[in-house]
Amino acid sequence: MNSYRTHSCDELRLSDVDKQVTLVGWVDTVRDHGGVIFIDLRDRAGKTQVVFHPENNAQLANDAENLRVESVIQVSGKVVARLKTDEVDATNPDLATGEIEVDAASMNVLNRAAVLPFQLDRNIANEDIRLKYRFLDLRRTPMQRNMILRHRITKTMRDYLDEQGFLEIETPILSKSTPEGARDFLVPSRLNPGTFYALPQAPQQYKQLLMVAGMEKYFQVARCFRDEDLRADRQPEFTQIDIEASFITPEDVYAWIENMLKRVFKESVGRDIVTPFPRMTWKDAMDQYGSDKPERRFEMKITDCSDIFANSEFRVFSGAIANGGVVKAINAKGFNPSVGQVDSLTQTAIEAGAKGLAYIKVRDVANTKEWKSPITKRLSQAEIDALIERLNIESGDCIFFAAGEWEQSCTILGRVRLACGEFMELLKGNTDIDLFWVNRFPLFGWDAEEQRFCAVHHPFTRPVPEDVEKVLKGEISTDLCAEAYDVIFNGNELGGGSIRIHEKDLQDATFRALGLDDATIEEQFGHLLAAFSFGAPPHGGLALGLDRVVMLIGQCESIREVIAFPKNNRGADLMSESPAPAEPNQLRDIHIQVKLPEKLRLKLEAEKAAAEAEQNA
Ligand code: AMO
Ligand code: AMP
Repeated sequence: MNSYRTHSCDELRLSDVDKQVTLVGWVDTVRDHGGVIFIDLRDRAGKTQVVFHPENNAQLANDAENLRVESVIQVSGKVVARLKTDEVDATNPDLATGEIEVDAASMNVLNRAAVLPFQLDRNIANEDIRLKYRFLDLRRTPMQRNMILRHRITKTMRDYLDEQGFLEIETPILSKSTPEGARDFLVPSRLNPGTFYALPQAPQQYKQLLMVAGMEKYFQVARCFRDEDLRADRQPEFTQIDIEASFITPEDVYAWIENMLKRVFKESVGRDIVTPFPRMTWKDAMDQYGSDKPERRFEMKITDCSDIFANSEFRVFSGAIANGGVVKAINAKGFNPSVGQVDSLTQTAIEAGAKGLAYIKVRDVANTKEWKSPITKRLSQAEIDALIERLNIESGDCIFFAAGEWEQSCTILGRVRLACGEFMELLKGNTDIDLFWVNRFPLFGWDAEEQRFCAVHHPFTRPVPEDVEKVLKGEISTDLCAEAYDVIFNGNELGGGSIRIHEKDLQDATFRALGLDDATIEEQFGHLLAAFSFGAPPHGGLALGLDRVVMLIGQCESIREVIAFPKNNRGADLMSESPAPAEPNQLRDIHIQVKLPEKLRLKLEAEKAAAEAEQNA
């Protein structure tokens, strides 16, 4: 292949027997079989067995035996067939190169490995140690697989978008804040003392400006930065496949994304997916599944029971309805939760804003006196009969209720539903692919804390045609609908986008609806409004979270498994030990003084000391 090697470690076959070859790679295993030393040599492509016979070269065999695993070596020798007779079979059917081995004649140790912090062929429970030694962790087979999968998926998307006429254009990392609902990461400017760049939460404004600039079809494998609380599917630094196009409707976006994902699934994991994807309105998603990203691979839909309890003696229910709210229920069929599980579900409901979680454990459906529930005593027979019919209640079912404001009740039951699904292991072994669109999102939400409207997607999102006039007239409510859409995969949001505002007056009216004053609008978005007054084409787009796509297609537990060098859940890179304090002269250059409140400083020092003590223990 080159001057280091003649073949990869996955290449040699019986047809290569007698060839003189040179291989390089990592020592995967060293085994001693009665003095004969076997090394599995590994490179990215695969493994080849190398054999050292002491009777041919005692020194060489001795050197091989003393190698530590993960050392890097170069080996030259002759390809020989492994023994395979009626009595002995030395071949390895699990290895592509399993019918041959290389009889080593010489070896060059390129780098000796020290004792490893963990064994690479084991499952490692402690993620911190994996992240600290990520360069070793990435050598492990599952991680190699994930990196290859990520490359394949990215390449497929690039090729597809190129074929469709999209131009790949880079946009700045040092930029101005674009609101996507998270906190910005700020970078102080040395040349402009006292001012800051914001790292982009997404290239949203730039891609719209590229449309004004006449690029018509843009995409980017775009790095995005969001300072928010981290979860299994979130990183502070992540990648979007960011797309924008001019003179399009949502139908164009749907078709591009569906066809692109169809190709991605086929080429990465060989699976056929059905297109076009079904569509569901946000309202139905919330009403039936209590989530804007419904997991639809099991039923347990949310059912409205408000009419049944409008005049109930049970004030928790009738009172909610009297206040303009609803009573909703789910039937977890055949679920007999333990006391601990009921507690945990109640906790889930409370975390979602509930005051409690009324439930009924149905024993014998005919004998309602035996039902286990804190509320059945307070329900009338007519209410119970109506409930049995509405929820198709059978012996052994478990019913959960939420009473209150519509959206919150749906959300509460949505979370309880998912938690029941987990307790009941409803998705165990499920390999279905459920890809669909959620659309017709609300344009505005109400921020109770700040007492103002907020953008549900982002402030550049267009209202549906019938609501444009209302925004222009300042008739703002949470009933207005956005021309926005999310693509959902098995209960996860893969991506989202919208058709945008391209008119100065509508954009201006939207900023006003969000409570921005003239000065703020001019300061933050003057460039965008200016652009919209020089011939802006109608446009729209979408961004897919690439890390999530790879994580879900690769069936990984966490987004960190598909990112080469991720941050842990405290936003730290344990390998490079960042973030880290800056040198005083660096801070001086950028005119920054770090002043921690005394209490916080003491707390951090104590934490640091405790961590060091733990490490030394
Ligand atoms: P949005 O904010 O919905 O839209 O982001 C699009 C997609 O990016 C992924 N994503 C993340 N992935 C990992 N870690 C995170 N912290 C994270 N945050 C978001 C999700 C999400 O669906 N500019 C708009 C898109 C547009 O309107 O075209 C935007 O960024 O998969
Ligand atoms: P209480 O009348 O407060 O004893 O409540 C009876 C049952 O209803 C308890 O199990 C509570 O957890 C539950 N509960 C209270 N408020 C609600 C609500 N808004 N929605 C559903 N269940 C509730």
